[in-house]
Amino acid sequence: MGTLFIFYVLSIVISSPISSSNSHTLKEGSSLSVAKPNNFLTSPNRIFSAGFYPIGVNAYCFAIRFNEPNGTIVWMANRDQPVNGKGSTLSLLKTGNFVLTDAGLITVWATGTVSQSPTRLYLFDNGNLVLLTSEGVVLWQSFDSPTDTLLTEQPLTRYSKLVSSRSETNFSSGFYKLFFDNDNVLRLIYDSIVLSSVYWPAPWLVSWDAGRSTYNNTKTAVLDSLGNFSSSDDFTFMSADYGTVMQRILRLECDGNVRLYSRKNLGENWVVTWEAFNDPCSIHGICGANSLCSYTPNSGRKCSCVPGHKMKNQTDWFYGCEPEFTLSCHKNESRFFKILNADFYGYDSGFYPNHTFNACQDLCLQSCNCVGFQYSYLQSGTKVNFNCYPKTLLVNGLQKPNFFGDMYLRLPKSYLLTSEKNTLDEEFGLNCPGQVTKYLDRMYKKKNANQLVRFMLWFAGAVGALEVICIILIWHLLIRNQRNSDANTRDYNLATTGFRRFSFSELKKATLGFSQEIGKGAGGVVYKGVLSDSRVAAIKRLSEAYQGEAEFLAEVNTIGRVNHMNLIEMWGYCAEGKHRLLVYEYMEHGSLKENLSSKVLNWNKRFKIALGTAKGLAYLHEECLEWVLHCDVKPQNILLGADYQPKVADFGLSKLLKRGEPRDPSFSRIRGTRGYMAPEWVTNQSITSKVDVYSYGVVLLEILTGKSPWHVNEANGEEETQSRGLITWVKENVNGSKDMLGCLEQIMDQSLEGESDAEKMGILLQVALKCVEEDKGARPTMGQVVEMLQATGFPLGCRLHVLYELVGDSAAVDNNTAARKGTYVSRGDTVKMTVVEEVVVEEVGEAGKIALTLVVWIGPDVKKESRWWWRKRRKYDS
Ligand SMILES: *[C@@H]1O[C@H](CO)[C@@H](O)[C@H](O)[C@H]1NC(C)=O
Ligand SMILES: *[C@@H]1O[C@H](CO)[C@@H](O)[C@H](O)[C@H]1NC(C)=O
Ligand SMILES: *[C@@H]1O[C@H](CO)[C@@H](O)[C@H](O)[C@H]1NC(C)=O
Ligand SMILES: *[C@@H]1O[C@H](CO)[C@@H](O)[C@H](O)[C@H]1NC(C)=O
Ligand SMILES: *[C@@H]1O[C@H](CO)[C@@H](O)[C@H](O)[C@H]1NC(C)=O
Ligand SMILES: *[C@@H]1O[C@H](CO)[C@@H](O)[C@H](O)[C@H]1NC(C)=O
Ligand SMILES: *[C@@H]1O[C@H](CO)[C@@H](O)[C@H](O)[C@H]1NC(C)=O
Repeated sequence: MGTLFIFYVLSIVISSPISSSNSHTLKEGSSLSVAKPNNFLTSPNRIFSAGFYPIGVNAYCFAIRFNEPNGTIVWMANRDQPVNGKGSTLSLLKTGNFVLTDAGLITVWATGTVSQSPTRLYLFDNGNLVLLTSEGVVLWQSFDSPTDTLLTEQPLTRYSKLVSSRSETNFSSGFYKLFFDNDNVLRLIYDSIVLSSVYWPAPWLVSWDAGRSTYNNTKTAVLDSLGNFSSSDDFTFMSADYGTVMQRILRLECDGNVRLYSRKNLGENWVVTWEAFNDPCSIHGICGANSLCSYTPNSGRKCSCVPGHKMKNQTDWFYGCEPEFTLSCHKNESRFFKILNADFYGYDSGFYPNHTFNACQDLCLQSCNCVGFQYSYLQSGTKVNFNCYPKTLLVNGLQKPNFFGDMYLRLPKSYLLTSEKNTLDEEFGLNCPGQVTKYLDRMYKKKNANQLVRFMLWFAGAVGALEVICIILIWHLLIRNQRNSDANTRDYNLATTGFRRFSFSELKKATLGFSQEIGKGAGGVVYKGVLSDSRVAAIKRLSEAYQGEAEFLAEVNTIGRVNHMNLIEMWGYCAEGKHRLLVYEYMEHGSLKENLSSKVLNWNKRFKIALGTAKGLAYLHEECLEWVLHCDVKPQNILLGADYQPKVADFGLSKLLKRGEPRDPSFSRIRGTRGYMAPEWVTNQSITSKVDVYSYGVVLLEILTGKSPWHVNEANGEEETQSRGLITWVKENVNGSKDMLGCLEQIMDQSLEGESDAEKMGILLQVALKCVEEDKGARPTMGQVVEMLQATGFPLGCRLHVLYELVGDSAAVDNNTAARKGTYVSRGDTVKMTVVEEVVVEEVGEAGKIALTLVVWIGPDVKKESRWWWRKRRKYDS
């Protein structure tokens, strides 16, 4: 082995690149190496650098970026094919070709240039990487093949286009393109495998109306450093900070929007100084097919499936939604479901102006491909035109309150939606900005072998046949060595994510021979331990892990990547022989259970714990990660950190213990803990994230009342077997009392003294009661729970005095509206009416807004209904 080591060292020394690091040129015959982080080119003004940069775990790209830590990448050579973190090089060959090779000596990317005279690579001050011959001829330049970014003075031409990246973390080519079309107009197109549609300039405008010229065949567009963008099709814009020289980048982003960013110097934050779309829902394809995009400036863009559909791919909205039913072609077997103020652009099977609703409906029913129709109204003067658009595909859907039209979705007559009253699918209300895809551990199995091949070639050439025999010998040795180093490679990869594999002896030592037991939970005993780096850890020894090692590793790896302030952090695991251990961060205040019984939590802390827990669970359920159900939410599994910050523990454990997939018929054991279990577990319904919502509701009741779910029913003194005791007791109290305050006094933990915010507690109670609904469709999602808890202001069910104004022409005031309370102000032929009404809050949205439906009459028989979100006003009686 000693000789082997010497050979190895020798090979590294000999094959190390002979390049100058940190200069702005690269000579012919030299190369840059991924293994040397300091091996990169810098522009003379030191603003740009070009080299290998990590874009994932063990995945690197050759890129040009701003020369600062984590600088913004402006160009990439191999965006679709990242290279290995070891042994990848970028070389300027003597032939004039400029080549990027992956560890396995696979050419990933090359300029394909050929030159007789010597060549040299330069990184210029403007960020252009140029391959020049000694005569000064440009053989290749990075400005000619932009990725998703244009720098100042970098022209977009007929030969180049910008292509967005797939997501904020996945730099592969995405679906949006900015390019010059055949008619010389600069356009944005959504171009996926299945659909493609132009969305900028607005597709319903002819170029002329969009202010574009089709006559100039030059096809160039350029941004200058002062902030003036001008294109040969007459499209121009100026940045908000036009006039000063700044660092600027124009980027086609993964959400399909084009944004201009500016800043003065390196190290400062980028500021958006122009964007193509203010309303991101007008961008096509953004939520995929069969879904609706909605946008509010406060909460941003949201995607949701249209009713009766479910998300195709939980991690990625681009895949859209798919129907959960099959449509029958038969005319009598369809019905229509109305989606208010929704617009689906494109894929009309025709345009039928001035059609009645029934005629439009019949048109749709007559066609087997019709999946619904859009019925819009356009008002001109006192006349209203109704237009009918039957649809064959539902794409580019968006919903905005001011859109004058509704979508009628075709459904099988017998198909019942889980919630007919909601237009938006509750289950998938959350948005996943940028589709957070993380790079998985990248493994190159041949890694060692490849290095060895290179090493061997070197040696064979240099020494001779004798050595070759010698090396073959070593090679055999190494192959054997490499086989058992597979596990080490994995360790190496995991270590880079801050998550690692421990040996059993290491953990035994850390826990002093498993001496300090701090808890017993699902599947195992938890011990306190101190790791070698002196971090205090909670170490869980699983007692019933039947899984094989590979499967266990896969699951643990998933859990290890889940990272949220309100979820317990997993530091590592141990899988050795029969031993399966999990290493978690240690929480000093123990579990919520212990704290509730020792009465150390005041009302403020309790509310924060409720909110934090909800956030943690919402993240598990909804935030773009793999679909993780907890299945065992209870106070024992909510741990409290330094300042009583709650963290949910034991998530993903149900998977580790291999108790079957939720819908797997073979799974017999009911998961969870009695008292916290949703009725679905017993009634054999499908298990969804709503089981966690139910358990969470019980935890909320426990937080409020201080009583465990096995609360003995005082009325009859017997303990209920199905453990609905606590819920029943609370419900009886709520129904029995006249107002919420009285009711709260009845049920709240009597042993606690001190201030409590009745409004917050009221919300907590309302939310808890919604969560423990028997019907899972009536329970909110965890995301909605978070919204409700944060929306301090209007408890559900309270009455509001709402003041609003209606403005319309005199026709608007018919008997119906006149019957309402209100004052009327006549202004010529328009009437302004102020109405004061009392409404009951039925739904609380983000930031304390409530939903109301406003009905405006725009003709004797024509009304327009729209749903409005009313901002919080403190004027209400509870
Ligand atoms: C660069 O990014 C990494 C990972 O995102 C982060 O850990 C590191 O702190 C960042 N460095 C700087 C200087 O921002
Ligand atoms: C912006 O640039 C275009 C093309 O170079 C030029 O015609 C136009 O005058 C410039 N606009 C301003 C305000 O400088
Ligand atoms: C076409 O556009 C280019 C660049 O904006 C401009 O220089 C040229 O004068 C234009 N040609 C015509 C015929 O307008
Ligand atoms: C969802 O998309 C991700 C990333 O594109 C992919 O890795 C995964 O396999 C997809 N899942 C399904 C169920 O199609
Ligand atoms: C469809 O329904 C109508 C009225 O209910 C009925 O007259 C007709 O026969 C039905 N058609 C078929 C094919 O069932
Ligand atoms: C719409 O149709 C009605 C009757 O079908 C007709 O009286 C009216 O003139 C039509 N309006 C327009 C704008 O075509
Ligand atoms: C990045 O996106 C590409 C294209 O959709 C996909 O093939 C690839 O698997 C993605 N990478 C990761 C790590 O999700």
